[in-house]
Amino acid sequence: MSADPGRPAPLLAAEGVTKRLPEGVTLVSDITLTVTGGEFVAITGPSGSGKSSLLYLLGLLDRPTSGRILLEGTDTALLAPPDLAALRLARLGFVFQFHFLLPEFSALDNVLIPIRRRGALKPAAARARALALLGALGLAEAAEKLPEQLSGGMRQRVAIARALANDPVLLMADEPTGNLDTKNAAAVFDIFAKLAAEEGRAVLVVTHDADLARRATRRIHLVDGRIVSDETNAPG
Ligand SMILES: Nc1ncnc2c1ncn2[C@@H]1O[C@H](COP(=O)(O)OP(=O)(O)OP(=O)(O)O)[C@@H](O)[C@H]1O
Ligand SMILES: [Mg+2]
Repeated sequence: MSADPGRPAPLLAAEGVTKRLPEGVTLVSDITLTVTGGEFVAITGPSGSGKSSLLYLLGLLDRPTSGRILLEGTDTALLAPPDLAALRLARLGFVFQFHFLLPEFSALDNVLIPIRRRGALKPAAARARALALLGALGLAEAAEKLPEQLSGGMRQRVAIARALANDPVLLMADEPTGNLDTKNAAAVFDIFAKLAAEEGRAVLVVTHDADLARRATRRIHLVDGRIVSDETNAPG
């Protein structure tokens, strides 16, 4: 794709991304896609089709064996591990199936941890940001509670607040509703839809659930590590 001076680079671009393990297993093959701000992309596919592997590659948690991944125009293959880690911390947010909140810390502290790690905000501003995120996710009352004092749906919303802590351009989630009931799962997808539509972030979510995938603006379906369809969902 040639650079068009009138158009910014896509947020995320994968060009022929392939990941092979040394023992010869191919996790994903020749993945080419671009994602722009405001898109809410659901990645679907059977178990073992490479959804998590693809998300790890696109989230810069793993490196392709061939092809390249550009984040906001930067070829991430050229970055040394510390620069890659800094880029992830500043620009990407992750949510997993299990919340991975630190059990001995309050919801507020769990959200503050990545903000402190990045070190771009003074303590008062960091606290204000974390409280605002919790408030926006309906968790104002939960700020001082420990994860074990919260419901599963609330914990996953704290995990989303934590993923948003450093104001990422791209939010990625791997089966974030896998441990939730239908109502809480729908609430999580509504949050993602809003983050994309109203805040212009790109959201990439792996899900098994076809009903939830229909709430995204775009659906990418994988089979055997390859994209077999990439479609825009009809609005509504
Ligand atoms: N480290 C590894 N070593 C060997 N094989 C692996 C490794 N990681 C993944 N695989 C295999 O690669 C394929 C893709 O795995 P991946 O976890 O990306 O699939 P998935 O679509 O996320 O599946 P699920 O829906 O079950 O989470 C699977 O066949 C898996 O068994
Ligand atoms: Mg998986």
